[in-house]
Amino acid sequence: MNFPTFLTIFLFHPVSNSAAKIYQNATELYISGLTGTFKYEILSDFADVSKLKIFDNRVTKIEPGAVCSSPSVKSVELNFAGNPGAPTLTKDVFRLCQFQLQQLFIRLDFDNPSQIDKEALRDLNLRDLSLQCHKIGILDQDFLTLNTLNLTRLVLSNCYIHEIDKHFFSRMEKLEEVEISYNRNLTHLPKNLFIKTPNLKRLFLQYNRIRELEWDEFAGLNFLQELNLSGNRLAYFDARNISENLPNLRRLKILKNLLPCQLKEKFSSDLKSMMNHSVEVVYTRFSCREY
Ligand SMILES: *[C@@H]1O[C@H](CO)[C@@H](O)[C@H](O)[C@H]1NC(C)=O
Ligand SMILES: *[C@@H]1O[C@H](CO)[C@@H](O)[C@H](O)[C@H]1NC(C)=O
Ligand SMILES: *[C@@H]1O[C@H](CO)[C@@H](O)[C@H](O)[C@H]1NC(C)=O
Ligand SMILES: *[C@@H]1O[C@H](CO)[C@@H](O)[C@H](O)[C@H]1NC(C)=O
Ligand SMILES: *[C@@H]1O[C@H](CO)[C@@H](O)[C@H](O)[C@H]1NC(C)=O
Ligand SMILES: *[C@@H]1O[C@H](CO)[C@@H](O)[C@H](O)[C@H]1NC(C)=O
Repeated sequence: MNFPTFLTIFLFHPVSNSAAKIYQNATELYISGLTGTFKYEILSDFADVSKLKIFDNRVTKIEPGAVCSSPSVKSVELNFAGNPGAPTLTKDVFRLCQFQLQQLFIRLDFDNPSQIDKEALRDLNLRDLSLQCHKIGILDQDFLTLNTLNLTRLVLSNCYIHEIDKHFFSRMEKLEEVEISYNRNLTHLPKNLFIKTPNLKRLFLQYNRIRELEWDEFAGLNFLQELNLSGNRLAYFDARNISENLPNLRRLKILKNLLPCQLKEKFSSDLKSMMNHSVEVVYTRFSCREY
């Protein structure tokens, strides 16, 4: 087992044109403080890096293929939070990633989001994709050109989504976990949105502004175990429709919605009596009486 090591790299090193901090733990490499150009040779001094994480940086340019320049890289995190000059992410940036990259996490700067080219991720075959602060608007199959056949996890958080096309998930059959969260203008979901994702087990929809659900939005989710609807604007939860559309639900989070606590308590006991197995409903941090 390798001991984690801290290194500070100076001017002459390919990693950076100024001091960067590197933290290495076994096959994971964390780099912060990078400025200017993210060079192709960045990984050349490190053997067997499987996970590369770049954060807290002032990168303005990424050389073609730099993020996957070592064939052992399977997971990449590019975090541009706090970097208003971050470069546009293009297909070139992910050159060489095609057959090796499984997991990709991109976070753009919330106040000055840079761009992800529509074709940037076209050649990847990801299992796990997470995008934060990428401006989307209407979420449909064209939002990015993606090969979704092997995608098991998709996270879109703080992405300015106000509408989801009903066909959005129709070619993502392998999905097991989805998060669409922190979209202040997302007020409803289309009927049958998840009808083609029968393997979904966890669905996190917290901190949108969903106002109303008939629960057939979730039709087809026969194996869903966990649903997070905290921080929305729901004023009514229909125990019967929930039990019918989500027969395998084990955990439902409904903190911070419009329904008064006592009614949530009633709903919780109704739902428990309709399910054929135990289900946990998380609706208050305390007991209702303390309000
Ligand atoms: C280092 O890596 C090991 C194995 O992946 C992990 O269990 C551990 O939490 C890591 N330590 C730190 C400080 O990240
Ligand atoms: C999906 O993954 C399998 C193996 O895990 C691989 O053989 C196949 O090529 C992948 N499918 C696509 C469309 O890339
Ligand atoms: C919500 O919609 C308003 C008005 O269209 C727009 O100005 C704002 O940027 C949107 N916010 C988010 C987080 O989508
Ligand atoms: C329950 O489901 C039925 C049939 O799909 C629908 O007509 C009704 O509006 C739903 N009620 C609520 C309160 O969600
Ligand atoms: C679900 O909701 C709670 C708030 O009720 C939040 O703290 C939590 O991070 C959410 N997400 C997940 C992945 O559980
Ligand atoms: C529970 O079981 C009963 C009888 O076996 C069945 O009619 C009902 O549909 C089941 N409910 C759910 C939510 O699976």
